[in-house]
Amino acid sequence: MIPNLPDYARLIKDRVGLHFDNAMEALLKSALSRRMAERNISNYYEYFEQLRISQDEFDNFITLITINETYFFRESDTLDLICDKWVPRLLRQRNTPLRILSAGCSSGEEAYSLAMKLHEKYQDGMAGRIEIYGCDIDPAILAKARNASYSSYSFRGVDPQIQQRYFTRQGNLYRLHDEIREKVSFHRTNIIKEQLLPEVDIILLRNVSIYFDTPTRRELHGNLLKMLHPQGALFFGNAETLANNFDILKLEQEDGIFYFCHHSEAPRVAPAPRVSVRAPLAAAPAVVVPAARPAPTERHSEDWLKKARACLDEKCFSEAEACIASVLRNDPRNQEALLIQGVIALEQCEFSQTAGNAQKILAQDEWSAEAKMLLGLAMMWQHQTQQAIAWFKQVVYQEPGYWPAHYYLAEMYRQSELRQPAQRTYRVVMQLLNDEMNNPSTVCRLRLPMVFPGNTFRFLCEHQLAQFAHQSG
Ligand SMILES: C[S@@+](CC[C@H](N)C(=O)[O-])C[C@H]1O[C@@H](n2cnc3c(N)ncnc32)[C@H](O)[C@@H]1O
Repeated sequence: MIPNLPDYARLIKDRVGLHFDNAMEALLKSALSRRMAERNISNYYEYFEQLRISQDEFDNFITLITINETYFFRESDTLDLICDKWVPRLLRQRNTPLRILSAGCSSGEEAYSLAMKLHEKYQDGMAGRIEIYGCDIDPAILAKARNASYSSYSFRGVDPQIQQRYFTRQGNLYRLHDEIREKVSFHRTNIIKEQLLPEVDIILLRNVSIYFDTPTRRELHGNLLKMLHPQGALFFGNAETLANNFDILKLEQEDGIFYFCHHSEAPRVAPAPRVSVRAPLAAAPAVVVPAARPAPTERHSEDWLKKARACLDEKCFSEAEACIASVLRNDPRNQEALLIQGVIALEQCEFSQTAGNAQKILAQDEWSAEAKMLLGLAMMWQHQTQQAIAWFKQVVYQEPGYWPAHYYLAEMYRQSELRQPAQRTYRVVMQLLNDEMNNPSTVCRLRLPMVFPGNTFRFLCEHQLAQFAHQSG
């Protein structure tokens, strides 16, 4: 029993933002017992005082409570977008060097991955034009980053040729060559409160904000706003982007990757990610107004839509189409009707109609995951694999619990010979299907009138995973 545990949690949160929920509390407790034993202190109040007044002690302690998990080329599609699109674009616009910051860089793998990718692209042309920085709160992990020697654990998913080209084996470790090591400088910075540099063009802050609570993440955005160049971009990890959307910075996407940039126009509100049912897009009204009785045409439309859905379930497409036509005649922008018509078209292999309807919905609601799913499916059936991947990825970003999007993403990866992402994504589907079985109330469904039978998809995933296992020996 630690009598002043909340004081410790508060001190750490105030200084570096880390938030100790139940899962993290065990880490805090074990760090306390380890550090107090090393210092030969048994009184929790005495050690708290040490931690509060001594920066050195705080540094020693922080090393024990940060989670430094990282590896080379992690979530590499974001790195591809940065190196293949953002950097060339910025270099064209600029005579001064552009700045990239890996914030919460841990042992440096992210920053060095960028350095390797950019070296592949520009060779010596990088010098004087691109500056790469890494920063972290943990001094011990920064020392490891500067040293740049890694165990095989850091090379999960790295192309062996890249590993051979840029690293030399020394016993059990692989040492990064100086030509890459020298391209990155590492700094001790508290990313919530301090600004390492002004006008950073690209900030990566991946897999860091997951340890902060919402007020801290807001504070972080305020700080990042000051650091980000007016034309720059801020990238979070795939799973954390939407939880960071406070409209302090503007959420954008390119090639299915989300990022934040400065607002150049009036702020817009993007939806929060949802777990089960679709959240309303509009902000809640300040005054609760009793729901108005639907106007006769609205009621009429609802009846037609209900009937259309029933016909679609029965695969009576021309009847369903006739019902939808009745709705669209009065209300050509009706999103539900456009969606159902899009699904009917998909069933009949009229892919351009499906895509057209989905685009009409997106023109009204750029966050419609249903429309994006339809576009993904339409692209998939037309063998436009890369486009299908981009759409499915967007659905997955917005609706991480919606397994059909993960499943089709896995299929597209498999067809593109991307074995590792495919296997990983099939496993995600299996996990989500298990979660669905154990806790059906948390299931994420889209308002998409399509049926995806879980058992069949589970079987397909198992089959594909077994095939992969068989192929790899
Ligand atoms: C899980 S690692 C992420 C590494 C890398 N960005 C990635 O995605 O692979 C999180 C890192 O954030 C650092 N961190 C946590 N709070 C921080 C803060 N307030 N300022 C700077 N770094 C922080 C931790 O020390 C840790 O090394």
